[in-house]
Amino acid sequence: MNELRDQVCAEKEYMINLRRDFHRHPELSLQERRTAGVIEQELERFEISHTRIGATSVLGILRGAQSGSGVVALRADIDALPIQETNDVEYRSQTDGIMHACGHDAHTASLLGAAKVLSQNRDRFGGELRFLFQPAEETGKGAPDFINAGALDGAERILGLHSAPDLPLGTIGLTPGLNNAAVDHFRILVHGKAAHVSTPQLGADALYAASQIVVAIQGLVARRSSPVEPVLLGVGKFAAGTTYNAVAEYAELEGTTRTISQETRLQVREWIDQTAEQIAAISGAEARVIWSDITSALINDPQVSREAAEVAKGLGDHIQVVTNRPLSLGGDNFAEYQRFVPGCYAYIGTANTDLPSTLNSLHNGNFDLDENALVLGAGLYVGYALWWLGRQEKP
Ligand code: NI
Repeated sequence: MNELRDQVCAEKEYMINLRRDFHRHPELSLQERRTAGVIEQELERFEISHTRIGATSVLGILRGAQSGSGVVALRADIDALPIQETNDVEYRSQTDGIMHACGHDAHTASLLGAAKVLSQNRDRFGGELRFLFQPAEETGKGAPDFINAGALDGAERILGLHSAPDLPLGTIGLTPGLNNAAVDHFRILVHGKAAHVSTPQLGADALYAASQIVVAIQGLVARRSSPVEPVLLGVGKFAAGTTYNAVAEYAELEGTTRTISQETRLQVREWIDQTAEQIAAISGAEARVIWSDITSALINDPQVSREAAEVAKGLGDHIQVVTNRPLSLGGDNFAEYQRFVPGCYAYIGTANTDLPSTLNSLHNGNFDLDENALVLGAGLYVGYALWWLGRQEKP
């Protein structure tokens, strides 16, 4: 393990350079063409075969030289966000309005660093390693493509990781069970009837109806759902009307729900559908709710979490493993893979009090991370993959 650790540490500069390159050139979900190209070019150098799934998903496959079977999947997300970077750093985003504000640049660099080290150690394992460089995590679109293309077929384990500014560098969060909420997105289209503002009786006010819907659906959380099970409901966008003195014919809301059980997830959808339709009807308007699934709840397999925790502790004496990181109502569509393969999502601490920008939260224009975390992420990928495929004694 020490020797492997040294091999991973030797790739630190390589990973930092890659991370900074991705950071300078962020790309939005399903537009990660340059990023996918860089990933392929690196896999090519390590003699890891690869294929594209969809426009920007890259699947790398590395077979071990030993006899034996077994398949482990390692996943990193690769997309950026429509956020303007406010950090004044040498590697700041060169694209206005787009930024790696969720650390996916670091995840991609860590997995490439791991792929490099694993390719140099192919004589130490049998079976197959699959590297899933997943686009469109932020929009919940990337994971199903890999699943539908059979990238998980035969996989026995899947491991993924995410940067965690809430944890100090050197800490790895490996919480068994529920980690993140299920996420859904909704659009509510309200269709009324236009009229002069002085004759409301001739119209149906879509703006007024939509306003009532915003207020009423919050009441579902307070008065319909169980107070002991978290349900979150947020409307983040509201558009209506054309001018100040006309009854608005159309209104549109956009929002999201966060739930932790499938039963509640479906129930909340039904409540929102009913509430929107009935409230619109009171104003003589009509409402239609359009749902899209972003991700299921993220639930770490207890056994895989224990295995990964054992590997994480082996990464160094200074490593702290926490198994009780609080539930987050943010989502991550790594959850989709875990529905098919026992898997674990690790949270790699990236905060360092000596570097104040690393204390800022994800999805902010001033988010940054301590790049020493790249080595820990890569170390976890490498250690876990070789441990499982090398058929060492299970923890
Ligand atoms: Ni993320």
